[in-house]
Amino acid sequence: MTGRGEGDADAAGGPAPHVPVLLAECCAALAAEAGGVHVDGTFGAGGYSVALLAANPATRVVAIDRDPDAVARGQALVTGSAGRLTLVQGRFGELDRIAEEAGHAQVDGVVLDIGVSSMQLDQPERGFSFRHDGPLDMRMEQAGPSAADLVNELPEQDLAAIIFHLGEERRSRAIARAVIERRRRAPLRTTAELAELVARHVRSEPGHHPATRTFQALRIAVNDELGQLVDALHAAERALKPGGRLAVVTFHSLEDRLVKLFLQARASRSPRASRHLPSPEPVAPGFTLLGRGPTVAGYGEVSRNPRARSAKLRAAVRTDAPAPDPLTELYERTRLAGLPGQEGVS
Ligand SMILES: C[S@@+](CC[C@H](N)C(=O)[O-])C[C@H]1O[C@@H](n2cnc3c(N)ncnc32)[C@H](O)[C@@H]1O
Repeated sequence: MTGRGEGDADAAGGPAPHVPVLLAECCAALAAEAGGVHVDGTFGAGGYSVALLAANPATRVVAIDRDPDAVARGQALVTGSAGRLTLVQGRFGELDRIAEEAGHAQVDGVVLDIGVSSMQLDQPERGFSFRHDGPLDMRMEQAGPSAADLVNELPEQDLAAIIFHLGEERRSRAIARAVIERRRRAPLRTTAELAELVARHVRSEPGHHPATRTFQALRIAVNDELGQLVDALHAAERALKPGGRLAVVTFHSLEDRLVKLFLQARASRSPRASRHLPSPEPVAPGFTLLGRGPTVAGYGEVSRNPRARSAKLRAAVRTDAPAPDPLTELYERTRLAGLPGQEGVS
C-alpha cells in the first residue's frame, strides 16, 4: 500500500505548498467549464476550488475542510472570490447538509481529494509525520482522541488489528506487543519515539520508512477516514442533481477499493455482493461510470510531483434515479465495511 506523503521518500522536506494532483483530469471529469455549483470536500490549500472557479466565471464552490488551519488559511481566497467561494469547517461525510445550508440543496459536482495535505505533513506539531519529531497527534480536526491516546490506551489486540487492517502491516502483532511493553515503562508521546520503536520490528524497504504503514494506520483510525469516505459517497449521491458529476482521488488501496465497490454497486442494475448471496432485486442505478477504470497520473506529473504516483481518480455521472432509501444505504454501508480480510499477520 502506498499513501500520500509519508509513503513517499520525497514527501518530507521544506514546508512546500500543497500541489494538487490530477487537477486537469478532475476538472475534465467534473465538466468544470460548464460552470454550476461544485462541492470541494477537501479544500486543503484550495487547489481544486481555485481551478473550478477559474474554469467558468459563473461557477460557485462550497468548499469544506475539517482542519481549522486550512479554513483559516483559505480566508484570503474567500475574500477575493467576490462571493463565489464559501468555505466551511466541517466533515465531507456531511457534504449534502453543508451544501444545503450554504443555499445549494442540489449541486453539479462533488470532488474529493482524500488524505492529508503537505501542510499537515510538514508541520511537526501536527504529529502526522515520522520524519519530523513532534507530539503524536494526527488529528485533522485538532479535537478528539489523538494517536497518542490510541497507542497508550488501546488493548494490544485492538492496536494490532488497526495496524494490520488499516496499514496492511504484516508485523502488526510484533509492533503492538512492543508498544504495550514500552508503555508499561512510560507512555509514547512523540512521533520519533513511535517511529524508532516500529523501526526495531519492521525491515526497511528501499524508499519506505519502516513506520510508514503503522503511521498510516493510526492516522486513518484517528480520523475515521474510511467511515468518512463511505458517508461522503452516499452524501454525494443525495446532493448531486441528475447529470451532476462525482470525482474522487485516492492514494491507497483501501480507499480506492471503497470508491470502486460503491460506484460499481451504484452503477449496476443488480449489484451482487457475493456469489454466496442471492441475487438482489433490480435497482435503478444512481450513477453512470466515467471511464473503464481509474485515471492515474502520467509520467510528467509523477516526475514533477512524486506524490501523484499512487493517485487514482474515479468519476461518475449521477442519473435521475432517487438516492437509496435509508435502509438500502445502511445495507450498503455494511457491505462496504465487509472488505475482504487478509491472512498472514505476524
Ligand atoms: C489532500 S488534501 C486536499 C488538497 C487540495 N485538493 C488542494 O489542492 O490543496 C486533503 C484535505 O482534506 C481534509 N480532509 C480530510 N478528511 C476530511 C473530511 N472527512 N472532511 C473534511 N475535510 C477533510 C484534510 O484536512 C486536508 O486539508
